[in-house]
Amino acid sequence: MKKFSQDFIFGTATSSYQIEGAVTQDGRTPSIWDTFSKTPGKVWGGDTGDIACDHYNRVEEDIQILKELGVDSYRFSIAWPRVFPAKGQYNAKGMEFYKNLARRLVEENIQPFVTIYHWDLPQWAHELGGWVNRESVEWFEEFSLKCFEELDEYVAKWITHNEPWCAAMLGYHQGEHAPGHTNLDEAIRAAHHILLSHGRVVQMYKESYKGTKEIGITLNLSPVYAASTSANDQLAANNFDGYLNRWFLEPIFKGSYPVDMMNLYSKYIYSYDFIQEGDLETISCPSDFFGINFYNRALIEFSSAADFMFKPAYSDYPKSGMGWDISPNEFKELIHRLREEYTTLPIYITENGAAFDDRLEENGSVHDEGRVDYVEKHITAVAELNEEGMNVAGYYLWSLLDNFEWAFGYEKRFGIIFVDFNTQTRYWKDSAKRYAEIVRNRSI
Ligand code: FCB
Repeated sequence: MKKFSQDFIFGTATSSYQIEGAVTQDGRTPSIWDTFSKTPGKVWGGDTGDIACDHYNRVEEDIQILKELGVDSYRFSIAWPRVFPAKGQYNAKGMEFYKNLARRLVEENIQPFVTIYHWDLPQWAHELGGWVNRESVEWFEEFSLKCFEELDEYVAKWITHNEPWCAAMLGYHQGEHAPGHTNLDEAIRAAHHILLSHGRVVQMYKESYKGTKEIGITLNLSPVYAASTSANDQLAANNFDGYLNRWFLEPIFKGSYPVDMMNLYSKYIYSYDFIQEGDLETISCPSDFFGINFYNRALIEFSSAADFMFKPAYSDYPKSGMGWDISPNEFKELIHRLREEYTTLPIYITENGAAFDDRLEENGSVHDEGRVDYVEKHITAVAELNEEGMNVAGYYLWSLLDNFEWAFGYEKRFGIIFVDFNTQTRYWKDSAKRYAEIVRNRSI
């Protein structure tokens, strides 16, 4: 049996567009995800976040679930277009929802862990160039300041950005996420402005706002392995590591972009002039913790047909419902590498979990053994990492509820609570019961 200390934080996580619904309520205007999901062919089955889990109208019921789960903390994000439905136009009514949520959580002894940006960029901002436009940094600062002014008294920890890689590379390079562009030059600029806005907001929070809570950023990281020891596969793996991990880790922790990747990208990037003097210093300014979303390892091989010579290799590992390798040992290797090469900051696992093909039985039970096993293995890994002194300060299970899984719509269920999207009834899966037990015992 492995024990967790009393101050270790157990939580669950969600994000605004994935659960809230209520897309026109109380003055909210569209985000890029409303537009993208309504564009034919972009999201599985034509699903949208219009209703999602209707969390906006069922928030009290969902707080009761959190209470019964017994979690120490709940991670949620703020829908920017609720708070700023138009450029420079603050909507107090939109903020009211988050104020109530944060206050209620505190009353229930659940620490609010707030992500300021989890991908729902207002459509108005997109129409002005979105993250490709450097002015986005100022729009984000204005939005963040309002969040601090209205919510800081309740909030325990702030995350500036969730997974800049997805927002920039899936959104502007691969086109799988909103706004659905396929242009590397735009993606690298977007990534730069997202990172810059992170640094600016951390500095603003600490220096002018004088906030005292913890603030940091969350990256999605996968440890990358080459399919063989051949020089080609090694090169491919190094490039993929640069594309996914180092392009974000190095500016944040070392104040520079990886030069090998700058070279590789240069055939698509007309000029790196958008990296202005002082930007990397701002991006690498000190924050208080480092957030990691971990799902799977990556196994990579060489492909002469691919732009940057990498492609996923065949892997015989057991898979989750996303087809992702279940890889708790590699998760530990990732944390070791971060400790060796990048940071001594406390680490929060801000997301970890798995989709599986869940079946709701007639008596309301969902026997999701696959998820129970996945969660147990990763929580055990966290406990082992802490025995090795790796300072993992908390674990947030993704996700509290089945929800709108981006391009996969409602097809992929990540929740520990099953949502019947026809009736909005919530059912406890076995994994929720098991997680409540782990949290209660503070051991696994
Ligand atoms: C992460 C996202 C989160 C969810 C999980 C499955 O990349 O942050 O919103 O979609 O994956």
